[in-house]
Amino acid sequence: MSSNNLNSAIDKVLSDESDVREATSPHQRDFPYERDGEAQVTRREFCNFLAVTSTALFVSSGGFAAKSLYDSQKTEVLPAMKIEEAVTLKPGSALNFRYPTENDSAILVRSGDGEYYAYGQKCTHLACPVYFEKDAQRLECPCHEAGFDVKTGNVLYGPPPRPLDKIAIEVKDNGEVWATGREVGGWERA
Ligand code: FES
Repeated sequence: MSSNNLNSAIDKVLSDESDVREATSPHQRDFPYERDGEAQVTRREFCNFLAVTSTALFVSSGGFAAKSLYDSQKTEVLPAMKIEEAVTLKPGSALNFRYPTENDSAILVRSGDGEYYAYGQKCTHLACPVYFEKDAQRLECPCHEAGFDVKTGNVLYGPPPRPLDKIAIEVKDNGEVWATGREVGGWERA
């Protein structure tokens, strides 16, 4: 739009405004009407509306984020199950077992210091089975070259978006190792 056209558009708006003022002036005394005041109220109401809606959005999105974080980290208590052959597992090695059902493959790792760690075997990227890489002492996924920390299940490298699902274990006094629950991995990377 040229500056001439712009100026004439502004003149038209201003003249329309003065026409309205002129047309309503006989009634101003009976029905006082402040256009400037109305504009202030409208602006104030609009700002209040924005503040209320943005606060509501903020609170609700925060609630959803907190709930998904809670859901992603909660531990599911499941029937306890003895992991056969865990007692004979040597430090620095691993074995596969099934938990909590026959359809859920899992892996139990005994680290070099003798501690036990267990995870669901499904990689959190596209569900390929992870395996224990003895030399590197980490869990690896062969599909897209990912690595997970044995002691935390956290992603060390590769595309998985979150840690492995942890299986809660309990080591009894007699050395038996029992699976007692499952914790869905959170979102942190190593
Ligand atoms: S399925 Fe494991 S890295 Fe892709």
